Amino acid sequence: MTKILFDNDTGIDDALALVYLLSRPQVELVLVSSTPGNVSAEQVARNNLALLQLCGRPEVDVAVGAAAPLEIPLVTTPETHGPQGLGYAELPPPPRQVLDADAVDLWIEAARRHPGELTALLTAPLTNFALALRKEPRLPRLLKQVVIMGGCFFYQGNTTPTAEWNTHVDPHAAAEVFAAFEGQPEDRLPIVCALETTERIELHPEHVERLAREAGCAEPELVLPEDPAGRRSTATVPLIRTLSDALRFYFEFHRHYDQGYVAHVHDVFAAAVAAGTAEYRTRTATVHVETRPGPLVGTTVADYRGLWGRAPNARIVSWNDPPAVFDEVIGSISALARRLGED
Ligand code: BDR
Ligand code: CA
Repeated sequence: MTKILFDNDTGIDDALALVYLLSRPQVELVLVSSTPGNVSAEQVARNNLALLQLCGRPEVDVAVGAAAPLEIPLVTTPETHGPQGLGYAELPPPPRQVLDADAVDLWIEAARRHPGELTALLTAPLTNFALALRKEPRLPRLLKQVVIMGGCFFYQGNTTPTAEWNTHVDPHAAAEVFAAFEGQPEDRLPIVCALETTERIELHPEHVERLAREAGCAEPELVLPEDPAGRRSTATVPLIRTLSDALRFYFEFHRHYDQGYVAHVHDVFAAAVAAGTAEYRTRTATVHVETRPGPLVGTTVADYRGLWGRAPNARIVSWNDPPAVFDEVIGSISALARRLGED
């Protein structure tokens, strides 16, 4: 079993990542913690709870930690993920509530209770993780592995010309997290899935069609560029309907920014790395995060050659295998959708 602490800002690609993890019988989700980013922390938590309910796993605990980034006001992105964070998908209000405890404290308790056993997966701004590291500086050694979606290295940003979204939302948190890992043994350094490799995980309408077919949907699930914006899925399998409605919004967003009718599902790759199902290569580096206000705020720079004379603080993914990721993710989610069945 891979035991995962999952911190996200659900978010369309976070949602797909969560569903993927829930689809893997070999993954135990110890806690889903909700960080403000794509939408507010409360909305992230509602989305997480609603998705857990949809996937038949309402018993998985969800918690909220920080309500805003460490030092700057929260900026959300409804244009990327929709007003509620799940694109066009609308889920019934979840019956379960978030835990009545701070996500940061729950992370620390879980890591102390299971030393060396937990994988931390972070697909949101690093606010909660930075707060956890302040309270428990031994976390890098208590956790088995840390996987982060964030940053971009010598590759253009998706939020400013040089900054990636998660890092731009809370650059101070990202800087604290990388500082906390500087000097740790190499096998403890976070595995960083940054834009130069996560944008290769490019989802196309054909992937949605294949997912629905493998899930046993009666009709082909066609999400087409020529469809009127916002058309809703009529798939007979609720999980497929939800994912299709969410992804249609993400396709339209990417097209709006001249990237084509595609969707970069960054967080899904990070989830597959955390679950141990993705092949990848890494390079160790010392990461610097620019925190000073100005056009470069949130920019991440990697020193791969030790030119700063500082110890490494990250293992940055340098290669991944997108077709294999899609084979794995589509196969696993469609099997879950089949188990859950039709309306
Ligand atoms: C990251 O930003 C968010 O909008 C996505 O969910 C992903 O985690 C990509 O830059
Ligand atoms: Ca995210």
